[in-house]
Amino acid sequence: MKIILIGLMGAGKTTIGKELSNKLNLRFIDMDDEIEKQSKMSIVDIFEKYGENKFREIESKLLEKLVLEDDIIISTGGGIIKIDDNCKLLNKQDNVVFLNGSIETLVKNVSNDIHKRPLLKSSTDLYAKIEELLTERYEKYKESSDIIVDINNKNINEVISQILVYIR
Ligand code: S3P
Repeated sequence: MKIILIGLMGAGKTTIGKELSNKLNLRFIDMDDEIEKQSKMSIVDIFEKYGENKFREIESKLLEKLVLEDDIIISTGGGIIKIDDNCKLLNKQDNVVFLNGSIETLVKNVSNDIHKRPLLKSSTDLYAKIEELLTERYEKYKESSDIIVDINNKNINEVISQILVYIR
């Protein structure tokens, strides 16, 4: 079985992914962590040194590799759907779960961690930035996923039970 989590920064992809992997006894890969491990650089440094396009190239190559694996939970980076080929690839997979939250929920969840996110790091208005990204990306998350799970006002276990209802 393979489950792929997509959604904006702050949707809880990493937290939910780890918990799902414990519950289902499957390997867990967080794509950002994997990129940092492989390149021995932080995501912030990759963006600063090589630019976003280079990061997207690395991210897309990793996705191509990971979808070939089985018995795995994959937590993607929020921008995975910015590349059309990634959307096409996600579309062909089963169990692609879009963790969908309101701007308020996402802002609350990312606010302590913006220094790790190059796209939010220097934002003076976090609410407006998240709103902009969500507006820009929402349709792509929707089109690329098979299951949409609402994360608003739900704890981890509630989100997980919802996911478990739908996966196959
Ligand atoms: C990004 C999301 C981040 C990370 C990078 C870019 C984005 O991942 O890949 O900072 O474009 O939304 P998380 O969604 O895991 O924070």
